[in-house]
Amino acid sequence: MVAQIPLLTEQQIQDRVIELATKLNSDYDGKNLLVVGILKGAFMFFSDMVRRLTVPMAVDFMIVSSYTDTETTGKINVHYDLRESITGKDVLIVEDIVDTGITLNAIRQMLLQRAPASLKICALLDKKERRLVNVPVDYVGFDIPNEFVIGYGIDYNNNYRNLPYITVYKKEG
Ligand code: IMP
Repeated sequence: MVAQIPLLTEQQIQDRVIELATKLNSDYDGKNLLVVGILKGAFMFFSDMVRRLTVPMAVDFMIVSSYTDTETTGKINVHYDLRESITGKDVLIVEDIVDTGITLNAIRQMLLQRAPASLKICALLDKKERRLVNVPVDYVGFDIPNEFVIGYGIDYNNNYRNLPYITVYKKEG
């Protein structure tokens, strides 16, 4: 069941995207920026964000999933890896939600081994209450409570990604 009232409206999200992009344009001025989108969840945030960036940049994508049977080991399945080298580049990972932090921490550790000039993380949503692994999130769109959310690229069973806003998903009963 989808809550009727958005947790974050389309307008709130777009306003925050502009604020984050303004900060990124300043921080990455004169750098060699590669923006890495983590699919699928970040696709909408990623595309809204990059169209607000005015610094020279390139894009790439990864598709990853956590091992469900080893929740805290931090191992991930990489279904689709970056197509280009990140060595010497200023890499910005763009993710939808940081929950336990396991997925992002594993991605970060993997990419650090490839010797980027810098590696930072931008996440639209942060559920700090749920954190199990201490991963540095450099840019956060919104801190949210411990609720299961959908919309704006974020799914429940691969549905609801098309909603232009973010809302709480509650299971029936
Ligand atoms: P973590 O490894 O626990 O931080 O998991 C992060 C991933 O879990 C996110 O990229 C999402 O794909 C998924 N996730 C976490 N919370 C939610 C939620 O509230 N709605 C939908 N997906 C979620």
